[in-house]
Amino acid sequence: MAFTTIEWVGGLDGCARMIDQTRLPGEEVYIECRTAEEVFDAIRRLQVRGAPAIGIAAAMGLILGAREAAGGGTPAFLARVREVAARLNAARPTAVNLGWALRRMTTLAESLRDRSATEALARLLTEARAIRDEDARMCREIGRHGAALLRDGDGVLTHCNAGALAAAEYGTALAVIRAAAERGTRLKVYADETRPLLQGARLTAWELMQSGIDVTLICDNMAGWLMRLGRVQRVVVGADRIAANGDTANKIGTYSVALLAREHGIPFYVAAPSSTFDLSLSDGQGIPIEERQPDEVTCAFGRRTAPEGVKVFNPAFDVTPARLIAAIVTERGVIERPDAAAIRAHFA
Ligand code: MRU
Repeated sequence: MAFTTIEWVGGLDGCARMIDQTRLPGEEVYIECRTAEEVFDAIRRLQVRGAPAIGIAAAMGLILGAREAAGGGTPAFLARVREVAARLNAARPTAVNLGWALRRMTTLAESLRDRSATEALARLLTEARAIRDEDARMCREIGRHGAALLRDGDGVLTHCNAGALAAAEYGTALAVIRAAAERGTRLKVYADETRPLLQGARLTAWELMQSGIDVTLICDNMAGWLMRLGRVQRVVVGADRIAANGDTANKIGTYSVALLAREHGIPFYVAAPSSTFDLSLSDGQGIPIEERQPDEVTCAFGRRTAPEGVKVFNPAFDVTPARLIAAIVTERGVIERPDAAAIRAHFA
């Protein structure tokens, strides 16, 4: 890739470096976070975004926060680890990868209670790097398993950005597209612009153009007509949290696209690593949906586009019921017609 979504730079005194996604596509600027609070802000402000990427960022943020207590004894160090994990976990509620990565880090820290804080910190850094590297491998595997779902000549609609910018590299939904394209499958990708924050227009369009993949941008409200015109044969999206029965939270607007796909007889696919599954939730009803600031809706194109004082509802995600999903692609393979039994079998 011509860019690096997120990486740890240096040793224990290093920092988390990430491309600032709020500045794309206009500027390719990297930010360096040196405190957990800076990582918290970067996640909150969507400088780093996408479910797997915020999990990686949180793991690195934990190192930054914990190292401030590395000079003290183990109890103080562990207390600091717990405190920083709780803070980072509150940055965004919907993507389960955040809590998943933080749990993995805190569980490791607790298991190292008989080691010095410096030693534990070094192990935690190795773990954060492993979380990043594993995600990169899972994305490649998702692509490998999902590529066969796309056929030569297909028009493929995607929503938001589930690409390399949303993960360690390569992406999830876009991994399926990338892998198919690498095999020589000719595709015409349509990217929903994805209001309010335009991840499709700003990020997916940019990322696919960088990779030389044919991409056409549409406004969100054009998807139904595009399908009616026969230009879409497949839909592939990412996920922020998948419940045990396959109900899938993803960027607001995904549910509408799934309904449109059903009406037009178009297979609707979800691509996500196992770290995006929340098997503690029996269905999508329990998935917390982030609500964001009204100004994301009342301001667009760099100016105010709605009257002062208007009431706003701004959920950042919605939940697509499993019955609308033809298959979920993970690093382990493809779950056809996902339901509780199929998902249990997949992870057995
Ligand atoms: O608010 P965002 O930009 O973090 O939302 C991202 C999405 O909804 C993605 O589709 C999802 O995280 C999957 S990323 C591989």
